[in-house]
Amino acid sequence: MIKLMKSTFYKEEETKKALANFILEAEMLSMGEECKKFEYGFAQKQGRAHALYVSSGSMANLVLIQALLNLGRLHRGDRVAVSSLTWATNIMPLIQLGLVPVVLDCEKETLNISSQTLQSVKATDIQALFITNALGFSGDMEQIRKWCSENEIIMLEDNCESLGSQVSGIKLGNFGLASTFSTFVGHHFSTVEGGMICTDDEELYDMLLMVRAHGWDRNLSAEKQRVIRDKNGIGDFFSRYTFYDLAFNARPTEIGGFLGNRQLQYWDEIVSTRENNFKRFQNCIESNDDFLSLDVRHMDVVSNFAMPAVCRTHESFEKYRKRFENAQVEIRPIIAGDMTKQPFYKKYVTNESLCENADFIHKNGFYFPNNPELTEEEIALLCDLLHK
Ligand SMILES: Cc1ncc(COP(=O)(O)O)c(C=O)c1O
Repeated sequence: MIKLMKSTFYKEEETKKALANFILEAEMLSMGEECKKFEYGFAQKQGRAHALYVSSGSMANLVLIQALLNLGRLHRGDRVAVSSLTWATNIMPLIQLGLVPVVLDCEKETLNISSQTLQSVKATDIQALFITNALGFSGDMEQIRKWCSENEIIMLEDNCESLGSQVSGIKLGNFGLASTFSTFVGHHFSTVEGGMICTDDEELYDMLLMVRAHGWDRNLSAEKQRVIRDKNGIGDFFSRYTFYDLAFNARPTEIGGFLGNRQLQYWDEIVSTRENNFKRFQNCIESNDDFLSLDVRHMDVVSNFAMPAVCRTHESFEKYRKRFENAQVEIRPIIAGDMTKQPFYKKYVTNESLCENADFIHKNGFYFPNNPELTEEEIALLCDLLHK
């Protein structure tokens, strides 16, 4: 069987041994120096001023939206545009925190929204755009960013599926005010569970530090603690249990931090192996007209966490689905189809819209493994399966 996820982490055997030793010797396993080091290393690799490590990619999204509400940059009732082809917990935090999701259809060729798709929404109707860079792909990010900045719309990126992909020499996750990542098993690299929020905005970063842990000031710098305590008339003794704003407990552990630091050293290797695999699969897809072409002309690097294949007809879809399944290759739907058709969405949001492209991709597409541990034989078999 060729599975989507081959192992819990890249270089599993040596990582598990190192982890066992780390646990035996560590004095403390709750959030500490390993997490800090991982955040610093992640921010450096991503090219962002700040990175905040949290317990999952889903919590990264929730913490980010709460922080923007606490800062008054978003308000309850605000409308936030999202892509129809996304993950449930890209949209759920909006509903949970009293915002209104406005779902935009994606393009069939890029699996994402683009500056063209954005024309279907009135800029004055939305306060933020929480874009998803699906499966390593993106829309025309430069134009999307320009549209957001011209219209004073906050741009956020859910980059949980696209670490390392690049457009115009810029890594995905560096276009918006902030971006989120997942380090769950099977994503680009794994800390078993985990997520990251990146931003260059210091005020937002400070709020994220508080929202991650109870709304207290313990993780702020000493100077910033002084300011917030003085402003609220709090002495040092009571500061321990003073809660300044709405928050969660989304802290990671030193176990995840340690794993993150081990995996960070393989960042480039993981991204480039996935990219090389992508190119080979893409060539096969391009030369078989049963499949729709994926348009990546605007992208410098595509590093996907799984490889999508969208068939032109449902008949072809059935043919390739059976072919992959018979060859013992694990395949899955291309995320969740038209999000507005999902039961949770229908239960909580009334503005159902028709996203024909997302629906088409859902009904006629599947994704198959692209991970850095695929063997040459497995890659050859996957390429074979993609031939007519
Ligand atoms: C686009 C997107 N956002 C958010 C998440 C949530 O990440 P996690 O599983 O770490 O909670 C995922 C998970 O696959 C995802 O694909």
